Amino acid sequence: MLLSPSLLSADFGNLQRDIEMLNSSQCDWLHVDVMDGIFVPNISFGQPVVKHIKKYARKPLDVHLMIMDPGRYVNDFRDAGADILTVHYEACTHLDRTLHAIKDAGMQCGVVLNPHTPVAFLEDSVQICDMVLLMSVNPGFGGQKFIENTYCKVRQLRTLVERKNPNCLIEVDGGVNTANAPLLRDAGADVLVAGNAVFKSPDPLQTIVELKQ
Ligand code: DX5
Ligand code: ZN
Repeated sequence: MLLSPSLLSADFGNLQRDIEMLNSSQCDWLHVDVMDGIFVPNISFGQPVVKHIKKYARKPLDVHLMIMDPGRYVNDFRDAGADILTVHYEACTHLDRTLHAIKDAGMQCGVVLNPHTPVAFLEDSVQICDMVLLMSVNPGFGGQKFIENTYCKVRQLRTLVERKNPNCLIEVDGGVNTANAPLLRDAGADVLVAGNAVFKSPDPLQTIVELKQ
């Protein structure tokens, strides 16, 4: 199981310190949540901050764009240091074009589905994806409650990827903790994102180990 802690729950006044904690941990990637205040109700940060995260991070940056028409910014996020770039199905008019643009820019590409978007909508794009990210909360904020229907969607997606693109990773984001992590793995998830579970833990390094087991 791969783990991608979300820096949205880090201390923005001490980002370098928190990134160095993750560097020294057993986590696999750093999850970077970019929000535009239009696609989601919240605004987080943009390319200049991602560039600084890249300066200190010694693990791949898993950049989750919660912005409208993300195709406009593919090269900017590549230049800022994204290794994996995921875009929302609901935010792209020309999803196929955007996914190819991400690959052509030299990054791994992924599609994100909101909780209300059916897995079946990926039937004609999963072949292109290195990863699909299922939201297990409505995006916009850390610390929300996990939506139970996600288990069912992970199983549906596992069936779809086995049929159409067995190399495609399944990532789950929102409300992930040490209680639901084993159930998500059993359902077929490959990568878990965790914000509050890691950064609000009294022992983040140990929680990272537990989330990966
Ligand atoms: C939510 C973000 C998540 C969030 C997860 O919109 O995409 O990555 O930071 O935080 P937790 O794990 O606290 O739900
Ligand atoms: Zn995210």
